[in-house]
Amino acid sequence: MPNDLSFSNRHKDLAARDKEYVLGWRFEPRIVFERGEGTRLFDVDGNAYYDMSSGMMSLTLGHAHPELVDTIKSMAERFTHQSSWYTNPWAIEFAELLATTLPDPLKMTNFAVTGSEANEIAMRMALGATDRFDICSMVRGLHGGSLAAESMTSVGGARRRGLGPLTLPAKSNCIVPAFYYRAPVDDPDQWDEISLKMTEELIEYTTSQEVAALMLEPIAVPGGMIVPSDKWLRSIREIADRWGALLIFDECQLAPARTGKFWAFEHFSVVPDIVTFGKGLTAGFANCGTVTTPEIAEKTRGTMGLPWAGTYPQDPLPCAVGLTQLQIVLRDDLTGHAAREGVFIGERLAEIQAKHDCVGDVRGKGLYRMLDIVTDRKTKTPDAEMGERIRYHALEEGLLLIAVKNYVRFCPPTIATHDELDDMLGRLDAAITRAEEKHDIDIDISASSSLAANSLTR
Ligand SMILES: Cc1ncc(COP(=O)(O)O)c(C=O)c1O
Repeated sequence: MPNDLSFSNRHKDLAARDKEYVLGWRFEPRIVFERGEGTRLFDVDGNAYYDMSSGMMSLTLGHAHPELVDTIKSMAERFTHQSSWYTNPWAIEFAELLATTLPDPLKMTNFAVTGSEANEIAMRMALGATDRFDICSMVRGLHGGSLAAESMTSVGGARRRGLGPLTLPAKSNCIVPAFYYRAPVDDPDQWDEISLKMTEELIEYTTSQEVAALMLEPIAVPGGMIVPSDKWLRSIREIADRWGALLIFDECQLAPARTGKFWAFEHFSVVPDIVTFGKGLTAGFANCGTVTTPEIAEKTRGTMGLPWAGTYPQDPLPCAVGLTQLQIVLRDDLTGHAAREGVFIGERLAEIQAKHDCVGDVRGKGLYRMLDIVTDRKTKTPDAEMGERIRYHALEEGLLLIAVKNYVRFCPPTIATHDELDDMLGRLDAAITRAEEKHDIDIDISASSSLAANSLTR
């Protein structure tokens, strides 16, 4: 067991001061990190952990990638921020190169700082382009925390409680997900039919019937890594077309490369009218955005506050970092790497699932997977506490995982080598074994972030 989770006095002191002065969700124990290198993070005592969430799913190239370090250093000396009414070569080249990864005519980027902002730009575009009103999102979707994006979010938990009239009516969340594992019928084809029929009815009966857009993640990650069938997603496209609505895909969790396709929607025979990006395309800097067609861009120019500017979007430093990262993703064919290693990961995780009863299901694609932790396979009852136990024992194994509710995420930096992935999987297997054997945990895990969030009763 690489880490015994006994921390130095300095470490404990920093954790105590964090608790006193910083308001934020924290997993327990509160580990304080001070360095990252490749796929690993190091805490202030020098303990090493594989970063199994790539930061916030953002570090496609891992920590301190030498070519990104060079870009950051040179941009820090040269040019960090400017008026968003002017531009710079890095923003132009980033948008241009990103357009080469997308099917024509998706080519115009409106930059944003966060994924939430990118999704709000997409919503503004849909309203401006259609002159319509309702935006329908998917149950179990997540689109961000700014208030319009939060309204589209229904991932569950206490996120929207108490927000009242600050959010749009709940009727917005009316696409019934293709969540086959937890569907009331066993046959995925049958659930496709039912969920699509329900979606059509909800759109017809609960909206104003002035539908501007259907907005969803092509694979809904935070809601449980819900991978729909090609037929289901094609039908969503058809429903959008029937209503004269645009189709918006939120790829913040998915692009680039980690699912084994540059854009996750390429796993399906569906192309959206608008696609948003964040996290994995940012390299950890604030370089998010919304891509659409020149036609939609022109139609919406001057409406709904578009194009969106703000203070920081398309700043030279984050754009240069995003550009360097994008060039490396394409040069090193990280999409192919994720697809190839994804086959291996899929096989190994299937073995882990077969071995451990608490792993009810494993879903995802390429290098992005999620373990659905259950009390037993028959009832499929979500077991968030076991998820936390796995996360805790994984720390002892030198794996830094995110567990939210009963979902344990496997999202290493896309540069992870075959040997590193093999090592991570061995450690994960050992952590699950200890969690199932109910080894002692010397902290109160009910205070750990996701369990604490679930316990809110308001
Ligand atoms: C699918 C999805 N969309 C949008 C967002 C919001 O991104 P940000 O936190 O950068 O606003 C998130 C954040 O987790 C996300 O998972």
